Amino acid sequence: MRTHYLMVLVIGWIVLNDGQTMNASGEEPAPRHLEAARRDGHSHARPDQVRVTHIDLDLNVDFEHKQLQGKATLSIERRPGVSPKVPLILDTRDLTIESVSAGSSDADLTKVDYQLGKVDPILGAPLTIPLPSEATRVQIVYKTSPGASGLQWVGASGTSSGLHPFLYTQSEAIHARSWIPCQDSPGVRVTYSARVQTPKGLTAVMSADRKEDGDGVASFKMPQSIPSYLIALAVGELKFQELGPRTGVWAEPGVLDKAAQEFSDTESMVEAVEKRYGPYRWERYDLLVLPPSFPFGGMENPKLTFATPTVLAGDKSLVSLVAHELAHSWSGNLVTNATWRDFWLNEGFTTYLERRIIEDLYGPERAAMEWTLGMDILRANLKQTPARVEILHIDLAGRDPDEGFTQVPYEKGALFLLRLEQQVGREAFDSFLKAYFDHFAFQSITTPDFEAYLREHLLKTEPGKAEAVNLHAWLRQPGLPTDAPQPHSKRFDAVDLQARRWLDREAKATDLDTAAWSTHEWLRFLRDLPARLANDRMAELDAAFHLTDAGNTEVAAQWLQMAIRNSYQPADARLDQFLTTIGRRKYLMPLYGELVRTPAGKARAKALFAKARPSYHPIAVDSVERLLNKEQPD
Ligand code: BES
Ligand code: ZN
Repeated sequence: MRTHYLMVLVIGWIVLNDGQTMNASGEEPAPRHLEAARRDGHSHARPDQVRVTHIDLDLNVDFEHKQLQGKATLSIERRPGVSPKVPLILDTRDLTIESVSAGSSDADLTKVDYQLGKVDPILGAPLTIPLPSEATRVQIVYKTSPGASGLQWVGASGTSSGLHPFLYTQSEAIHARSWIPCQDSPGVRVTYSARVQTPKGLTAVMSADRKEDGDGVASFKMPQSIPSYLIALAVGELKFQELGPRTGVWAEPGVLDKAAQEFSDTESMVEAVEKRYGPYRWERYDLLVLPPSFPFGGMENPKLTFATPTVLAGDKSLVSLVAHELAHSWSGNLVTNATWRDFWLNEGFTTYLERRIIEDLYGPERAAMEWTLGMDILRANLKQTPARVEILHIDLAGRDPDEGFTQVPYEKGALFLLRLEQQVGREAFDSFLKAYFDHFAFQSITTPDFEAYLREHLLKTEPGKAEAVNLHAWLRQPGLPTDAPQPHSKRFDAVDLQARRWLDREAKATDLDTAAWSTHEWLRFLRDLPARLANDRMAELDAAFHLTDAGNTEVAAQWLQMAIRNSYQPADARLDQFLTTIGRRKYLMPLYGELVRTPAGKARAKALFAKARPSYHPIAVDSVERLLNKEQPD
């Protein structure tokens, strides 16, 4: 008994001390409670023992077999004091491993044994590679599976021209492992290089500097160190148009002009952020317009934001998406959440920055409308979510990190920063943020790291002001703290008044004063209306404002949700068309969610899904499937 107890103590001591390595700059180790927070429960990797520092990819893009084939050569570094017996552990999901070699240079690689472990439904399978003690390179020859969760193989019919297929990756949160064997944790930063072979006539782009080598080969270099979830690749019939000296847009030829017009403010946005928060450190900022099945609005892949074509509204009304993805070049890509528990550090900061950019470019009224719409969505979201999901420093143990993808990290996170701004004043808060980005540049940090920095550099320097903010409530409690800012928009007051007049039957729809309304005001108007509206009232709105034919996807999605709820059949065909051409999860979930509330609707949802499914991304398929299989409450 007693020896056993002692052994546990000794092993415990070794395990605890294992994480206590000096950091790269040779500083003192971080306090233990900070180290514990740094362990990422969503990766099998042990970067505290052996760390990957560079990934070199050599990939062939095979559309016929929906497969990437090639090799990944990883540069590795054993942490000081870690025994040579400790293996390298990589994350994989649905990869076929053909061989693994290791050596001390690219020229000196010999085959080694490896073991592909048991598949965990959330994490995938660990690839364990015992290494010769002198090894600094590991090469894995592998293939992806056609159903890889991080890849979408879009058939020609899913593209704008209908002529060529399209492939793109989506690695966040933990899908990089489905196309690259890697330490798939945001706490591990790597540089990368790649050589990509595509069929002739198609162009490959990545989140990296690009060089055309001819014969369907392009090569890439990412010299800045980034987490694996920011490694990205897309292949299609792509053309480029410049927007400014360091900005531009890639898209299919038929979409390029429209995209260039919509995104023409991009260079000014980069300048606006730089003025407040320090230099843009990624040289170029380009955008890539994806096919409409892209399951997200945007993805902040460094140097090359991926964007849904549904933002091409024709009037720049949805460019907050560009502001958002660009802002990630500071919050997210430069200073990164170390684990998915700290996701709010990426998205809350970015949503705050996004609104500041919108204010700088389009004025305080537009920013106020966006803050207000955000708050409304957050409040609606909070009514439906369990308390544990309402916490910024969320506990995701045993859960898929996608479960943390709610309005909470975005809007509650942004409101927390707005609260701090209002408390200490804009000038002090802006300089705090600028120093924060500089201090943690190219590092991955946890919520406790942020808190420690905040205490030291804002709370202490603004005595008597900042301590009024209840950090514990904001970061560790559910719901909205009582001191949450209350965004307000005067333009929305006017909209609310028009909605009232119509609802009280003081005015007909055609008499409402809507001529100067922006997309935001239309969204507010539609959200002002009650859940139930009689068919003749729906028809009156439709006749006056052509809502069923709305080209703006935000407005259309809001209207279609109302149409489903009120069984407004004139919108049926539009709903079919919408759900079978657009795969953005933000729209799919509320629309399918509204359908499944009645038995007839559920049958329709299933039929529509069967038709649309081949064109959806694996992530979207998974989310919709879960929704359709869930028991509906009465
Ligand atoms: N990084 C996110 C997208 C994301 C988050 C993908 C988590 C996978 C897992 C991106 O920056 C984002 O927030 N996109 C939003 C649009 C934005 C304007 C709020 C989206 O796609 O809805
Ligand atoms: Zn984001």
